[in-house]
Amino acid sequence: MLSKNFGALLSALLLVAAPFGAEAATIQKPGLKQSETSASRANQIKAAYKTSYQAYLKYATGHDALLPLSNGFTDPFGGWGASVVDSLSTSFLMGHMDLYNQGVEYSKKIDFTKTSSDTISLFETNIRYLAGLISAYELGGKKEQKLIDQAKVVGDHLITGWLGSNPLPCNTLKWNNLATPDACTSSGIAEGGTLILEMDRLSKYTGDPKYLKLATKSMKTIAQSKGVFPGLFPQVYDPKTGLPKDDYVTWGGGSDSFFEYLIKYAYLTGDDQSLWIPTWVNSVSSSIEHLIEHPEQTQAKQLTYLTDYSASNGGNLPRWSHLGCFAGGNWILGAKMIGQDAFDQYGQALTAACANTYTASPSGIGPESFVFVGTNNNTDGVRINNAAFYRKNGFDFEVTQYILRPEVMESVFYAYRTTGDARWQEIAWNAWNSIYRNCLVKQNGALAALADVNSTSPTKLDDSESFLYAETFKYLYLIFADPEVANLDKYVFNTEAHPFLVDQPQKASYKAPAVNVKPPKKDKPKKAKQPSKTDKDAPVPMFSSLPGLKLPEGGGNTLGNLLGSIGKRTASQVRRHRGVAHKRRQDQDAAAEV
Ligand SMILES: *[C@@H]1O[C@H](CO)[C@@H](O)[C@H](O)[C@H]1NC(C)=O
Ligand SMILES: *[C@@H]1O[C@H](CO)[C@@H](O)[C@H](O)[C@H]1NC(C)=O
Repeated sequence: MLSKNFGALLSALLLVAAPFGAEAATIQKPGLKQSETSASRANQIKAAYKTSYQAYLKYATGHDALLPLSNGFTDPFGGWGASVVDSLSTSFLMGHMDLYNQGVEYSKKIDFTKTSSDTISLFETNIRYLAGLISAYELGGKKEQKLIDQAKVVGDHLITGWLGSNPLPCNTLKWNNLATPDACTSSGIAEGGTLILEMDRLSKYTGDPKYLKLATKSMKTIAQSKGVFPGLFPQVYDPKTGLPKDDYVTWGGGSDSFFEYLIKYAYLTGDDQSLWIPTWVNSVSSSIEHLIEHPEQTQAKQLTYLTDYSASNGGNLPRWSHLGCFAGGNWILGAKMIGQDAFDQYGQALTAACANTYTASPSGIGPESFVFVGTNNNTDGVRINNAAFYRKNGFDFEVTQYILRPEVMESVFYAYRTTGDARWQEIAWNAWNSIYRNCLVKQNGALAALADVNSTSPTKLDDSESFLYAETFKYLYLIFADPEVANLDKYVFNTEAHPFLVDQPQKASYKAPAVNVKPPKKDKPKKAKQPSKTDKDAPVPMFSSLPGLKLPEGGGNTLGNLLGSIGKRTASQVRRHRGVAHKRRQDQDAAAEV
């Protein structure tokens, strides 16, 4: 908390003052209760989760992910059963104790010392396996020591990513041959900057500080570097010098979870003395100053968007993505911690704008990325195809796939749990119905990705990522569950939605630098409209395994397109399925591995 002397002065100066004298920093709206309707909806989502997960168990158990249309499997994450480990915390929170117990027994027996893959992603292994194991250990009452032993095997491999005394890790690990690591010339900020939550918990439960030490070094290297704007760092760094190598700023893929972890790490530990909160406050303040735009040439001018920014590509790029839509929820969480009401209002406005990509979409589901006309009619790097749709709805589709991503519902979860405003639940319920109607594979109960959400009957893709179980089902369920389940006053979620217990749940308030930002234009969540009801089963597509990416013709920054649209996929997967050669710098390639 700020001192009283400063407080009196600052509250006079600030548009929104910190909550002086607050009893405790509560994130959730106090007294929030589950309605009967919500209980029934939570049960429906819980049942669909079980059916879908059982399809994985039947056809792909022990493999990383189910191929839902062909009843096959795929192993992009080491082949250790990513879907099993990713499902643990969701099964527990839903009360599917049979699935949880079975998954824990499976996870205790995985041989993490070797893999059938040539190379393994440090980032993916950390957020899915390491976090999944540690979160399951905490949720289960810290009784299964074997889960920590397993996490330690994973962690001991992950820390080989830091070569020599490099401040930042290489993302690609030769898991079976760690003695001869490949050097790398680039490290993305979402790689070096998405480790500290998991490594902190690993150090805590093993009693060995080395994991946290390395993750802290990486995080600090980025946070103390010269940003494009204060707190806004570009995507690609030199792992040896710790210096930035490009100028592309985004809250989307490739950068996203670095910004996410700044505030979440402060929340996990209760630490408001280090650079985490001031850096995050800078990230958000600079975003409000430089990235926030309202769309032009549309009836929906009230929408609040985050642009990407790259001076070498002309400045603001009016494009946002499903991945980047986590930002609304993240701003709300941090705003509640530090008592910054303007940040909270921006967070809600961003969440409403992302929700609009669902409610306005013919399928009822938002796209992988979308574009708009920015300030001063700027369309740098993007193209509006459907002018009539744009004029009405304030965005146009760019990459039209839906690969079962969670981020829009993740932000809606924060908006609901902090306000108790039932309109957020209506938006989520409509989203869930659209996802269920469009993605359900009737033969086996699994959910499949979609090729084109800009359609009333989208074609399904033979793809179903493990984050469906870790994140999408979890956030949808929690929006309707008893608010005591994963209460935000007690838990912080890693970027794969695995909850960790916070160290200081009773902390009175979080100290933060004062900022002077104007609250956004009012943009209350609109009443969700019922999406159109076509229930035809789409034909099985010709191609298998992973969805091909549909990128816009011409226009657009290549790195932005790639990172904004592929997110957690690897560049090689995208190249394989796009079948289009793209000229990219080496470091862009490496960053795209995130
Ligand atoms: C943007 O375009 C609209 C419609 O064409 C026009 O009325 C407006 O003056 C333009 N604004 C700027 C800043 O050029
Ligand atoms: C979305 O659908 C409309 C109507 O079918 C079409 O005109 C438009 O080009 C589509 N947009 C994209 C990006 O596919």
